[in-house]
Amino acid sequence: MYSSKITGLGYYVPENVVTNDDLAKLMDTNDAWIQERTGIKERRHIKKGDGNSTSIMGAKASRIALDRAELSPDDIDMIVFATLSPDMYFPGGGVEVQEMLGMRTVPALDVRNQCSGFIYAISVADQFVKTGMYKHILVIGSENHSGGLDFSDRGRSVSVIFGDGAGAAIVSRNESGEGGILSTHLHSEGKHKDELSLKGPSTGYWVPQIIAENPQEDIPYYPYMNGQFVFKHAIVRFAEVIQEGLESNDLEVGDIDMLIPHQANLRISQFIQHKLKLEDDKVFNNIQKYGNTTAASIPIALTEAWEMGKIKKGDLVVLAAFGSGFTWGSAIIRW
Ligand code: COA
Repeated sequence: MYSSKITGLGYYVPENVVTNDDLAKLMDTNDAWIQERTGIKERRHIKKGDGNSTSIMGAKASRIALDRAELSPDDIDMIVFATLSPDMYFPGGGVEVQEMLGMRTVPALDVRNQCSGFIYAISVADQFVKTGMYKHILVIGSENHSGGLDFSDRGRSVSVIFGDGAGAAIVSRNESGEGGILSTHLHSEGKHKDELSLKGPSTGYWVPQIIAENPQEDIPYYPYMNGQFVFKHAIVRFAEVIQEGLESNDLEVGDIDMLIPHQANLRISQFIQHKLKLEDDKVFNNIQKYGNTTAASIPIALTEAWEMGKIKKGDLVVLAAFGSGFTWGSAIIRW
């Protein structure tokens, strides 16, 4: 059995900054409400004509991660692409990135686990590297939320939270055997699938059916979120899955050097921090600048924290996520 480690990180966000005041011009909301409830000050949105899409942003983040790993696209044995906002209903973003980067006919796997997508994707990559089947795997999380949100008053409790962006990591065989990805822990609970969901287009809601058969107030083609319900489950599951990861490695909360929680809502991160009694410098948040970028949030935050020198060799880094499904997970990494 081999072990795996992250050898390269990169992120990309569109240039277009959308502040809370900008959103207040589109819907009945305000900066104070958004900051108080979510901590978000601004987010990035793709601008029509700026050349970005979920896959294109994923490819941009990937190029940076590849450079930092000192690898070329030819060195990659597999792509794992996590998103809930693919460019096309099918095929998924993995093959698009493969084509954009001019890669060999390596497998491209698409992961659909929403806010937990990156943790699921890292876990898949970790298993393939551990068995020795592959040596270098490109793991991507990317989202174009702004293309599919309801910016009218009706959608305000959802649309203010989400932003666009992409992050990528290279998961490689850990040649030195020191540290690396120690373990990953994944969960789901489908009975809550409707509480944070987007129902169409899908086989249940093909586009003509949406228009012809559904009443105007039934809008399955915009995301639905039972915010308070999600919040209550998130704070329980985040803490649980972090503890599960630590215990399975005989570690304690006090051993954590850096916790990178999925950037769902600053209040959720603060709640977890408080519950685990972690000091401010042991939790990294950047939701204030980017909003919730779902599958992209952890790789963007991880890359930023690493770029800022907040993650050093030997550090215990914990990644944790919770989201639609519900699904949740953690990854315990010795850097
Ligand atoms: N601007 C201003 N007012 C808004 C608003 C907005 N963007 N969105 C909702 N409101 C209003 C509501 O209509 C409601 O008004 P009322 O009291 O007159 O009915 C009031 O604000 C409170 O709404 P509520 O939904 O109870 O707010 P909340 O305190 O639960 O906060 C969330 C809403 C979405 C911020 C919060 O529930 C949350 O963050 N949940 C977790 C979501 C999450 O993390 N999702 C991603 C998981 S991966």
